[in-house]
Amino acid sequence: MTVHETLGAAAAAQALRAPLTGFGNHFETEAVAGALPIGRNSPQKTPFGLYAEQFSGTAFTAPRSENRRSWLYRLRPTASHAPFAPYAGAPLLRSGPFDEVPPTPNRLRWDPAPIPEGAVDFVDGLITYGGNGDVATQAGVGIHLYAATRSMTERVFFSADGELLIVPQEGRLELRTELGVIPLTPQQIAVIPRGLRFAVVLLDGAARGYVLENYGAALRLPELGPIGANGLANPRDFETPQAWFEDRDTPTEVLQKFQGRLWTTALDHSPLDVVAWHGNLAPYAYDLRRFNVINTVSFDHPDPSIFTVLTSPSDTPGTANCDFVIFPPRWMVAEDTFRPPWFHRNVMSEFMGLIHGAYDAKAGGFTPGGGSLHNQMSGHGPDRESYEKAVAAPLAPHRLADTMAFMFETRWVIRPTRWATKTPLAQLDYDDVWQGFDKAQPPR
Ligand SMILES: [Fe+2]
Repeated sequence: MTVHETLGAAAAAQALRAPLTGFGNHFETEAVAGALPIGRNSPQKTPFGLYAEQFSGTAFTAPRSENRRSWLYRLRPTASHAPFAPYAGAPLLRSGPFDEVPPTPNRLRWDPAPIPEGAVDFVDGLITYGGNGDVATQAGVGIHLYAATRSMTERVFFSADGELLIVPQEGRLELRTELGVIPLTPQQIAVIPRGLRFAVVLLDGAARGYVLENYGAALRLPELGPIGANGLANPRDFETPQAWFEDRDTPTEVLQKFQGRLWTTALDHSPLDVVAWHGNLAPYAYDLRRFNVINTVSFDHPDPSIFTVLTSPSDTPGTANCDFVIFPPRWMVAEDTFRPPWFHRNVMSEFMGLIHGAYDAKAGGFTPGGGSLHNQMSGHGPDRESYEKAVAAPLAPHRLADTMAFMFETRWVIRPTRWATKTPLAQLDYDDVWQGFDKAQPPR
């Protein structure tokens, strides 16, 4: 067999292999034995004549602890493509700087977006709620929802503006990336590095979920401080796919998001053609049900930062560009304590979504697939019904089951898009959930 026949046969014979485990490890993986050069990255003659290409997620000179890059060995170089032209799809996708409408100090909440009627794929189905910062300065985030009915066949996407944290809420996905395939179900998440090409295949016909587009520093595990060496999201539970590639010479559209706009070009082959790779810049998945939930065993509700899964730091220590925080099933045992999240005003801004079940601070109106926004210094907390129930409840240990809410919390105000302020999904009566609290009666 020729080299091309060997690679083609190997591509056709691939089964999904067990993922590589660990957060941020230096991995190496090959879909065809012998495809990785040994002892060097860029030999004069690579195995099978594959093209060696470095994929850099940080500056070459970033400190070792921050540096992220991988070496890819592929059928054709990424450089081989025609110019990109503006793309007119994804009509509700927006990007930083978010200046469509004046940012509102009001608290906002939305009903779940419906699944589209026609054939809409992951990219065209992106709807932006809001965001902050600026893609030009690599700070801030975009917060999107996707609602899709069509798999991305013969089309791949990448964002040059940021890494993508994908949070499925409904419908299983298969993320076919340049570096391997990630199967993903609701209550799992995946992170796609900035610039990595991928296609989203819908395994259940329709899908909906949330996307954090992180313009800033790559997400990583939070420091644990006095918690110690273990806990929260444990590194071994993060999964990175093994090398997998398509040997497909049929037309494929490449869409990219660059400085806030979408661009398109056409290839005569699939760019998901990386036969082997090594390095520490790679997509990964994590099952939120493996999160080791830590909370009080005496009194008072710790700050919700105790539920941080991943964090993108900013230049100010301890003040995140964005934290990804979850509220998973857990036992409530605190003595003499108001157990739901307390009333709060925050210098940070908080976008919440619900993946599954119900959230303990809201008795109604916050449903799976919906969202809420509590911006810098806006008062928020339990609604009246939840408050009254919590102050009257007997303080026996009880388990919050059937729940998985999350928060994107960021140091900058989240500036909603025009769609987010005008959509009929916006709940115009949201403020009412905090109406009617009885006045406290201290003795005079
Ligand atoms: Fe809060």
